[in-house]
Amino acid sequence: MQKKIIPEWISVGVLSERTGVAVSALHFYEKKGLIKSQRNAANHRQYPKHVIRIVSLIQVAQRTGFSLDDILAELEGLPNRARVTLEDWEALGSRWKTELDKKITQLTELRDMMTDCIGCGCLSLERCRLLNPYDKLGEKGAGPHLMSQ
Ligand code: FES
Repeated sequence: MQKKIIPEWISVGVLSERTGVAVSALHFYEKKGLIKSQRNAANHRQYPKHVIRIVSLIQVAQRTGFSLDDILAELEGLPNRARVTLEDWEALGSRWKTELDKKITQLTELRDMMTDCIGCGCLSLERCRLLNPYDKLGEKGAGPHLMSQ
């Protein structure tokens, strides 16, 4: 099978076809600053072909729970979006793995806290660790702990 050569500049339709992302979503990504196009002589949007990879990256990142703002921050940190190197991808993957590990730890803690709440329903600020999970000052008992320091 012959490999299809992608032209340097592609239309939004081709970008949608290549990535499986709806045209409306691609326009939204552009509005958010995640991808950039330029207009051709006929005033149609044209995307550089490296945007296919960026859109694929956005899809993967969203599936793993990252917000578009998180993804934008990462993309803005890349030295050159048009020429993403293997080192860039490795660094990005490593940062995202660390973030995912943190989220997994937090969700595991929340799941474990939920065990106490099943069948309870009190939603008490004093008692419910699910409603008020990181209440460090609450462990010291009632009263204005910060005011007394
Ligand atoms: S709902 Fe009662 S302890 Fe969480």
